[in-house]
Amino acid sequence: MSLLARTPLRTARLILTPLDATHVAPLAAMLADPVVMTYFPRTMTLPESEAWWRRTVERYERHGTGLLAVLHADTGVFLGDCGVQVRTFGGRTHLELGYHFTREAWGCGYATEAARACLETTFDDAGAAGVIALIRPENQPSQRVARRLRMRVESGVLHLGLVHDQWHISREAFAGLTLQ
Ligand SMILES: CC(C)(COP(=O)(O)OP(=O)(O)OC[C@H]1O[C@@H](n2cnc3c(N)ncnc32)[C@H](O)[C@@H]1OP(=O)(O)O)[C@@H](O)C(=O)NCCC(=O)NCCS
Repeated sequence: MSLLARTPLRTARLILTPLDATHVAPLAAMLADPVVMTYFPRTMTLPESEAWWRRTVERYERHGTGLLAVLHADTGVFLGDCGVQVRTFGGRTHLELGYHFTREAWGCGYATEAARACLETTFDDAGAAGVIALIRPENQPSQRVARRLRMRVESGVLHLGLVHDQWHISREAFAGLTLQ
């Protein structure tokens, strides 16, 4: 996988860079926000967020890909995380797109812009045939991001003990994507 090797990723408004120790405080504040965590089992404490960040760094080292910090290109403000991680479940290894943004950053198109850059980079890698996303059926904002990226629901899975739709996009479907 090549996501890490290609960082920092730059888009019109954003910079995506590996999550480092300087991002832990805003990351923890985001994951402690009950509104951001509405569709997750619960909010995270600071030690849990620190452990989550350390696991992310281990994933970078093991797989060369993972969730990245999303920063505003002009101000450097931490807006959230977005990236593609390697996940094994149901007897298969998947590339999974994920994104979480601070409440202040919602409604600006940042999640779609960041996710598109991550998919573009991932599909540049000759080995990546498809990418999935696991989204709760109730999580309408996340579904709208997936739809804007031309992802489609292909099955249902139990993840973190909760029913999720498994969305998917192939390299071919992503090619030539123009955002609406
Ligand atoms: C999922 C999540 C990232 C979606 O955030 P979002 O702000 O709705 O998505 P985007 O950043 O792509 O912004 C798109 C919205 O901004 C609007 N927008 C405003 N200005 C825009 C601009 N300049 N460019 C593009 N879109 C713009 C769009 O119309 C769109 O609104 P709509 O979805 O109501 O039609 C956010 O809800 C979140 O962080 N949730 C908590 C964590 C979570 O659930 N993660 C997903 C787990 S599966």
